[in-house]
Amino acid sequence: CLALHLLVWHLAPPTVPLDPGHQITSSAFFSSARLILASIVIIPFALKTFFPYLWMDFLYFGDLLRILVRFVSRRRRIPLFFALDRFFEQTAAHPDRPFIVFENESYSYTYTDKRSNQIANALRSHPGYEAGGTVALFMGNEPAFMFTWLALAKLGSPVVLLNHNIRTKSLLHCFNCCKANVLIYLIIVPSPELKQAVEDVLPSLLEQGVTVLLMTTHCSTAGLESFSVKVDEASQAPVPPSFRSHITFKSPAVYIYTSGTTGLPKAAVINQNHLLKTMAVLSSNGVMSSDVIYVNLPLCHTAGFMIGFIGSVETGSTIILKRKFSASQFWDDCRKHNVTVVQYIGEIMRYLCNTPKRENDRDHKVRLAIGNGIRAEVWKEFLNRFGNIQVREFYASTEGNVGFVNYAGKIGAIGRVNFLYRKLFPYMLIKYDTKRDEPIRDANGLCVESPKGETGLLVSKITDIAPFLGYSHNEEQTEKKRIRNVLRKGDLYFNSGDLMRIDKDNFIYFQDRIGDTFRWKGENVATTEVSDILTMSDCLKEANVYGVQVPGNEGRVGMAAVTVKQGAQFDGHKIYKHVVSYLPSYARPRFIRIQTAVELTATFKQMKVKLVEEGFDPGRMQDPVYILDDNEKSYILLTTQVYSSIISGNLKL
Ligand SMILES: *[C@@H]1O[C@H](CO)[C@@H](O)[C@H](O)[C@H]1NC(C)=O
Repeated sequence: CLALHLLVWHLAPPTVPLDPGHQITSSAFFSSARLILASIVIIPFALKTFFPYLWMDFLYFGDLLRILVRFVSRRRRIPLFFALDRFFEQTAAHPDRPFIVFENESYSYTYTDKRSNQIANALRSHPGYEAGGTVALFMGNEPAFMFTWLALAKLGSPVVLLNHNIRTKSLLHCFNCCKANVLIYLIIVPSPELKQAVEDVLPSLLEQGVTVLLMTTHCSTAGLESFSVKVDEASQAPVPPSFRSHITFKSPAVYIYTSGTTGLPKAAVINQNHLLKTMAVLSSNGVMSSDVIYVNLPLCHTAGFMIGFIGSVETGSTIILKRKFSASQFWDDCRKHNVTVVQYIGEIMRYLCNTPKRENDRDHKVRLAIGNGIRAEVWKEFLNRFGNIQVREFYASTEGNVGFVNYAGKIGAIGRVNFLYRKLFPYMLIKYDTKRDEPIRDANGLCVESPKGETGLLVSKITDIAPFLGYSHNEEQTEKKRIRNVLRKGDLYFNSGDLMRIDKDNFIYFQDRIGDTFRWKGENVATTEVSDILTMSDCLKEANVYGVQVPGNEGRVGMAAVTVKQGAQFDGHKIYKHVVSYLPSYARPRFIRIQTAVELTATFKQMKVKLVEEGFDPGRMQDPVYILDDNEKSYILLTTQVYSSIISGNLKL
């Protein structure tokens, strides 16, 4: 408040004439003093009334500046300073502080450092490993994930983070899309479930000369090597820095898979510079080294890896790591470990609010929740129920060059237009034709900015400080995310694929996602991938895949409109088996609508819009609709009763 007064003081010009030699009479002095006094009292009120968020805007910009200054000073350091160096600093500053707590075990910064040295040293001496070669990790959330990532960072190896939910075809695809310039590939896998997934694709991997290492003590499968004993026996001595002397800010640090808005999953390249920048997300939201952070999002995604893990390296906090999210354990974990900061996605918040109320709902130390995708009604309920927790909703994408944070705590918004931020990172909303699935262009072929209050597509100018690095070895998909001739002929923007709206108070609201993906259970589903899999089955000829909304659920649930091959029958059991063996659970279409023919009059995209609108109500259409039933292990006919219980929320999807 005092600071605000000072600010106001500076803004309000002195009312006393400052002509040198001019004698201020005492009455003039008093009237000026009264004026100043009055303005001190009134202006803050006026500002608060007419510009309620001005102060927050200033604070936020202050934070941005602070981050920028730190970033720039790090960028100037010699030798070069990377995310890994921050880990070294934290280890030196508090060697014994727990870094990771996982299933009743606690691992200090020093332990983590030494364990990652062991992994690095074991790898170094492994035949076939070449210093600096790219390595893929196929692991669920567990400390070994972090230890191994640090080990590879110490060896100067870029790391491919494979999503541990994916199977066979997708796994091979993901594996291949980072390969081209890589010498040798190693996968490190721990759990039995993942072992099976790798065994399924092992022949292809071995054919490509990939070494597959398993983080276990024993392994009987030919072609898989167990690696744990070698690690246990390896030296704890630090890896000589010369191993990473080839690294620059442009070197890839990690590859993270994203479905973007089109096509199969693609590896977004995160270079060292990007990693150093995004390290600041937690700290810029007020997270400190004394904080305890609950990480229950997958480490193979941006949120878990860059914000949870790398963000905690920046702040020097303690991570409470969960294998996966559990609504029933969430608050007990928070109480047990004195958690102060939690990470979320929209689904998590909704599940938490859907759990039965408990007496001790407000008994915890959580002060900050940071994440994205929380709906306004869930947000209100969350605060009501679990107490005064600051919710920091932000918007960002793995590969994107624009991000927002709702620093003002405005319920429902994902961020706020900040004049200064917009100067640094020029972005805007452009008019979009959802039926034709393309931006609206004027007579000159340029895009049209959406006025305030109207929904538009978020695009952000690609510049040196807001680069778009694209996808690894996928120029076609990279180009799809670029949009040209937006404001001027020849300009270049990043197409976020997200529709947003900015209200009159400059708050930004997420509206919808366009293109060929939808989100379900916190994961992106690429429709083309699902339809490829469906049409690989014996009986289906064509498959048009899309997401439909279901009341009470975040995102969209998968649905496919299919045609059956001539002479074939729709066999629910067979399709179920096919879908389950090829697709992770979130990507399996829950509904299949059987059509006799694809409509020929409309374009493919327009047809999709119509199908989405028609949804999955069997009472509204002639076509039979089937629902995936895990108990029956089949797709069974969807009745109107079952439909009603889905809509009323009695039947959970
Ligand atoms: C949590 O905090 C309480 C009280 O401040 C303390 O007694 C307890 O030991 C802490 N628990 C952990 C796991 O740090």
